[in-house]
Amino acid sequence: MHKVIKMTVLLMIINTLLLCISAGQSTDRLLFPRDNFTLETKTIITSAGEKKVTYRSYLHIPYVSKPVDKDYQSLNVSVPVEIDNITVDASNAPILFVIGVGGYMSVNNARSGEGATMGAPARQKTSLPPVPSGVQGRTPGSISRISSRQDLALASGYVVVSPGCRGRDNKASDGTFYGKAPAAIVDLKAAVRYIRHNKGVLPGNTDRIVSVGCSAGGALSALLGASGNSPLYDKYLKETGAANEEDDIFASACFSPITDLEHADMAYEWNYGSLPARSGLVDQELSNQLKSMFSAYQASLKLQGKDGFGLITADNYDEYLLKFYLFPSADKYLKGLGDEKRKEYLQKNTWITWTDQGSKFTFKDYVSHVGRMKGLPAFDDFSMSQPEPNLFGNKTTDSRHFTNFSLRHSTGNMNAEIDSEVTELVNMMNAMYFIRNNNKDCAGYWWLRNGTSDNHTSQTVMVNLVISLENLKKDVNSWTFWDGGHCADEDPEGFIDWIGRITGYNEVK
Ligand code: DHB
Repeated sequence: MHKVIKMTVLLMIINTLLLCISAGQSTDRLLFPRDNFTLETKTIITSAGEKKVTYRSYLHIPYVSKPVDKDYQSLNVSVPVEIDNITVDASNAPILFVIGVGGYMSVNNARSGEGATMGAPARQKTSLPPVPSGVQGRTPGSISRISSRQDLALASGYVVVSPGCRGRDNKASDGTFYGKAPAAIVDLKAAVRYIRHNKGVLPGNTDRIVSVGCSAGGALSALLGASGNSPLYDKYLKETGAANEEDDIFASACFSPITDLEHADMAYEWNYGSLPARSGLVDQELSNQLKSMFSAYQASLKLQGKDGFGLITADNYDEYLLKFYLFPSADKYLKGLGDEKRKEYLQKNTWITWTDQGSKFTFKDYVSHVGRMKGLPAFDDFSMSQPEPNLFGNKTTDSRHFTNFSLRHSTGNMNAEIDSEVTELVNMMNAMYFIRNNNKDCAGYWWLRNGTSDNHTSQTVMVNLVISLENLKKDVNSWTFWDGGHCADEDPEGFIDWIGRITGYNEVK
């Protein structure tokens, strides 16, 4: 009898435990709805021909439990199940995390619904030029019909996750703003945490998340890569109900990253200061002030150039860019043109000398070829009409200055100081901040790309990221596309192959 009672009590305890576990599962608001998908098929164009890919499409899945706006704080997932009629198993595939942000604007995930099951969510309207996903058709040879990066990823058997996120334009019905810094990076981290929370449920290898984005999206990709598991965001992540998981990622790909915002005005004057903008030459005295601030900043970074170049300073940076980026980039382009077209190009660009040794030109001539795009200051502009002061607004203020230089010149108070709260936000939005502080869970693998004719920010911005990461012994793959513009990507398949190499994943040939 005694035994029977004991047994019954034991069974009751087990039962209660089982009930608790199953109740726990069913109330997990961040559980990925594995069985709730539609099956879609699309034709993807690769350089080796077309591939027919059938994939599971999951749309508009909220990734936080206390969303401020779930139209933005939701994500799409695409999981390949069949490629050219051959079944594929993506359960251990790399996960491409596609950041669709442009201009630091929000990405509305609800609008990416029908027919846009793949890739970056629809971009918000912005005054900035649209950011192409995929190829810029400028390269010699015809690769312009190749599908977008995210489609190519799918055709290689990778899982693609496209999160929405809040941005500087988000405004509630009561007129308050809810997407100012650091909302976008908080949301992206929350999305990474969601993926990790669903390890084994959401297909793909949660230890092989590779982020990608361009421009502001490239900056956020860099930031996601650099700031892994930083406690700085904890309070924001908690507030919006992010999963209690780690948010570091395996690799980060950044096209034309608009980052290091608090030093971007200085860097811009270093690059373009003596060139006229559309409205004429900018104030040379202010330009020179910013230029000398760049010298001090660059010196403070103490970056060592590769191949024994030594310390990189504002004085030798032109030489570094020429040697490691601009000459190799021009050489590849000119070689690829073939004799006839090259002759034509060189006749139009007499500032370039072409010999058996490759191309030669001066940095000054190269910069004149590119031209200046923005005014002064280029980012924290005095009238706060650029995206960046708008990014650093708060709930009730649409835009705020984020550098002492612009705050002082626009108020006339040469002792004015940026609020420490703004400085904290500026740090939280800057990949360089985390790299300089050697954040321990910084991604190990980096793919950085820019166009040589991209004048949205100084060429030093991406290259400083590259050198800083190289100095930390990260695995960095960098290149600039000759004459390529903002967000140029002339090698989307190279990027997909790189993911295969760094993750060791080659299930799909
Ligand atoms: C973008 C472009 C810019 O020139 C800028 O200042 C910020 C963002 C963009 O295209 O995302």
